[in-house]
Parts: sequence; C-alpha cells; structure tokens
Amino acid sequence: MHIELADYLEAKFPLDERSLNTDVRQACFERLGRKRGVLHCLDVGTGTGAMVRRLLDSELKTSLAITAVDHDASALKIGAIAIAAQLNRLGYRARAHASGIEAEHAGRQIRVDLLCRGLFEFEPAKSARYDFISAHSFMDIVPMARALSLFSAWLAQEGVLYATLNYDGDTALFPLYRDPAFETAVLAEYDASMERRRVQGEPTGGARSGRRLYSLLAETGFDVAAYGSSDWNITPREGRYRDRDADVLRALLFMIRGESERQPGIDRDRLARWYAERSAQLESGALGMIVHQLDIVATRRQDLIAFA
Ligand SMILES: C[S@@+](CC[C@H](N)C(=O)[O-])C[C@H]1O[C@@H](n2cnc3c(N)ncnc32)[C@H](O)[C@@H]1O
Repeated sequence: MHIELADYLEAKFPLDERSLNTDVRQACFERLGRKRGVLHCLDVGTGTGAMVRRLLDSELKTSLAITAVDHDASALKIGAIAIAAQLNRLGYRARAHASGIEAEHAGRQIRVDLLCRGLFEFEPAKSARYDFISAHSFMDIVPMARALSLFSAWLAQEGVLYATLNYDGDTALFPLYRDPAFETAVLAEYDASMERRRVQGEPTGGARSGRRLYSLLAETGFDVAAYGSSDWNITPREGRYRDRDADVLRALLFMIRGESERQPGIDRDRLARWYAERSAQLESGALGMIVHQLDIVATRRQDLIAFA
C-alpha cells in the first residue's frame, strides 16, 4: 500500500477542515480582518496549498499576495490546479503567471506565488515583511527554533503566525486491541520515530511539537494569542467513515507498521497479525483513531526601541 504525498494531503483536507480549532481560527482571522491594504501572506510546507485555499475561502476582503513554499514540486503542481479552480468557482478568472496564479474580481486582487524551495533555502524578496505566516501540519517535521527565528525575522511587527495541526504525542486506536501492551509498544515506536527525526542534523518538533511550539514561541519573540486542540477524530459514524477518512486511516496504519518494522524489539509475526486485524476492522468500518494535535495563533512582538 503506497499513497502519493499529494493524494494523502487531498484525502486529509476535509478531515483537517473538521478538526481545526474554531476558536483559534476565529482569533486568527479576526486579527487578519483588521489589516488594511494588501495582506502579505506566506504559507510554509504548503503541499497542495490547503492553507492557501482556506485563505481564499475566508471572509477576508483585502487583496492578497500569497507566497506558498514547499520542496515537493508534484504537490505544488496539484496545488496550483486546485487554487485556480477555486478562484474560478469564486467568480475570479485565474491566469497563470511565471511563478503561480493571479486573479482579480470586483477590485480585489489575488496573487499566489508557488515556490519549489526548502524552507531553509527560501529567501523572501528584500523588502518583504509578511503580515501572516501559516504552517499547517509542518512544525513537527522541521527544526522548530530555527524555523521560528526565520518567521520572526520575516513577519512585520504584530504580524500573525498561525501554526496548526501540530502533533502532540498521542495516537489512540479503538476498540482496544486484544493485546494492549503490544499495540502500546507499536504506537510508542511511531512516536519515537518522530523524536529521532533529524533535518540537517537538528531535531525537529517531533512527537510533542504542539506543546514544544507553545513554549518556544515566548523564547523567540512571539506572544501566544490563542491555542487549543485540533484532534483528528477519524471515527466511524454508524459504521461509515466521513469524507476520505478511510484513506487517511489506511495510510496511517501503513506508516505506523512501517516504523515498527524497522525496530528489533518488535516481533515481526505479531506485528503482521496486528496490521491484518486492524486493517480488517478498518475495512468493516469498525476501527477508530484519535490523534491529539494543537493549533496556535501568535503575534510577533514589537521591536523594542533602544533609547540612547
Ligand atoms: C504534512 S505535509 C503538510 C502539507 C500541507 N500544509 C497540508 O497540510 O495539506 C508537509 C509538507 O511540508 C513539505 N516540507 C517538508 N519539509 C520541508 C522543508 N524543509 N521545506 C519546505 N517544505 C517542506 C512537504 O513536502 C509536505 O508537502
């Protein structure tokens, strides 16, 4: 079972939409709604542009200049098609430009630049200071302090950082497995794989990225405005999964098994039986998974003015 990144991202889009914390989202968009003039936005680890599409669907009225960065060219390509289709649905006429899409409607201008770049290689245009940076399902896979110091440098004073769906250390499967200790060990390996992850030699946000992010924000020049849980409830309703939840669950089971397969402490036969039984429950609509995640909106602190 292999699922392409872009397909996985599209499958989880409606699940993410249901899961985003509504209070945190409201706090974020209320702040953005106060801004006059063009709103300059940066979405990091954009994938197929989920956050760009949310911005376009929001009630913001100002013109938008959005830069969306990801190092996966094929996800960006699918994102460009989806963004153009969405603009057309909203009554714009989307046109391609050298690095993305632009559109205009009723005096409002939208420009989206989709850049195939690693976060740490990306350099904003010299004069650019963003009003808004979004990082959705991203902070667990990058060195967080380094990413935050870049965001702090790139944001305008009181600019808004919206970091969402930050995995926070708990994946639970339902119903309880007949050998709970074995499943606990398998899920612990899954979290441990995130803790072991290194990017350019540095640890990433990892399995507890939500609470780590909350603490690091204060140390890197941000004030937390609102935060709350955005757990994935991938649970059947009357024996049926919602949206494309079954595809997400299939992909997650596969990833969880993959991490344990590499570990000498996990018996391969027991793991194969666990996977077969959990997969059968999934196919009959009996498996549930709850994944704990956090959403945070923070503002960049004002620069202190030094008086001589
Ligand atoms: C879990 S996906 C989230 C994508 C999107 N935000 C969403 O939720 O639909 C993480 C994305 O970050 C991208 N990514 C990972 N590390 C990156 C880096 N260092 N620089 C740029 N993109 C990165 C991946 O290619 C992937 O598209």
